[in-house]
Amino acid sequence: MKRAYIIVCLHVVFLPLGIHLSLATADTIEAKKERAKTAAEQITVMRGALAKSFIKPKSEITLATFKAVCGLVADTAKEIAKEEGFKIRHSAVKFRNPMHKATETEAGLLEKFDKNRKLTEFWDSVKLDGKEFLRYSKPIFVEEACLACHGPKKSRPDFIVEKYTEDKAYGFETGDLRGMISVMLPAPE
Ligand code: HEC
Repeated sequence: MKRAYIIVCLHVVFLPLGIHLSLATADTIEAKKERAKTAAEQITVMRGALAKSFIKPKSEITLATFKAVCGLVADTAKEIAKEEGFKIRHSAVKFRNPMHKATETEAGLLEKFDKNRKLTEFWDSVKLDGKEFLRYSKPIFVEEACLACHGPKKSRPDFIVEKYTEDKAYGFETGDLRGMISVMLPAPE
């Protein structure tokens, strides 16, 4: 009798725990969507923090500074994308790297974010290479530390003028919409 009681008790304790653990480890689409949001947030916050810490008034901005800021951000985005099986993309209407030129639907989203500053994120879906993806997009705004490289056209560092001949990503002011980050995850079958 005592034994049976203990077994029942153990079940009461461990059964819900087991269910809880299996729910926590199951990679549901909801869990993936949460991780896509976290990735977008992490990358955006990281860029701001690095820009603030590396760019001080009157400090010389070189290719090395860039690599320490946007370069590191790009590497982190690549790592997360690889680990998670996501695709991560930056886009802008006024782009610096032509690879980031907004597509028609991206330009539509950017306009939405620009017009409605209360809209801080947006989910939609997109087809890439014939496959359906869920897309999470988040706007990126200009902060003071960004102006060293995205401020007046004339004050852009030399390496930018030389390397980015199609550059349109200057003339921004603090608070302007700079572009957006999109994290795409394969849509469930
Ligand atoms: C040290 C110079 C530098 C600073 C500071 C800087 N950027 Fe950039 N940024 C660049 C360069 C160079 C590129 C192009 C990178 C590439 O080739 O992918 C770029 C690209 C971008 C892009 C991708 C879209 C595009 O136009 O190609 C975004 C978004 C962006 N920057 C936002 C910011 C924000 C926001 C800040 C401030 C928090 C910032 N940047 C600070 C140099 C800088």
